[in-house]
Amino acid sequence: MELKDLKKEYEEINVIGEIVFSSSQIQGKIRELGEQITNDYKDRDLLVISILRGGIFFLTDLVRSINAPLSIDFMGISTYGISDTSGGVVRITKDLEEVIENKHVLVTEDIIDTGLTISYLLRNLKARYPKSIEVCALLDRNIRRMADVNIKYKGFDIGEKYIVGYGLDYKQKFRNLDSIYELKIDAVKKDIESIR
Ligand code: PRP
Repeated sequence: MELKDLKKEYEEINVIGEIVFSSSQIQGKIRELGEQITNDYKDRDLLVISILRGGIFFLTDLVRSINAPLSIDFMGISTYGISDTSGGVVRITKDLEEVIENKHVLVTEDIIDTGLTISYLLRNLKARYPKSIEVCALLDRNIRRMADVNIKYKGFDIGEKYIVGYGLDYKQKFRNLDSIYELKIDAVKKDIESIR
């Protein structure tokens, strides 16, 4: 769905600013990532994992651009206290259906910010003895990074921007926009801890 099609009376529409990445830029980048992943995994069985909820948009487009045998699975997490400088707590609310021992695993994320979520997940998943494990993220915002993360397949760097659309939400809304938009910081200042 495009921003211009959103009803003007939609209460929160005034928080949305300039377009940052258009739908065609996003899809173009995903095709590039898909080609790289296809080359790297063409002779291997791949399990692609997505983190609920926002990451599912990226997952479904990415796997359709990968020309290799693969399956998909999902993890749900909650991130209470993630904004604390003390570290944050990540809790698994939905675990994988698949056993990953001896499998080639690719963990996908829509955005990596502090890096705490993905670091926790990688530690957790590595303890299950996958044959290999790599990270693919559409967006990298590393100015708040608190944990080292090796993002093997990366879409875009986004600097300091707070953004919405293509899976990213503002108060759980706007995930269904095809493009990514900047959030007007003045309009959302009071919510800044709860947005990406
Ligand atoms: C986002 C994103 C990552 C996490 C990254 O999810 O999908 O999982 O934040 O942040 P970090 O690097 O600072 O740990 P979010 O918690 O917003 O949940 P959602 O996908 O349900 O919106």
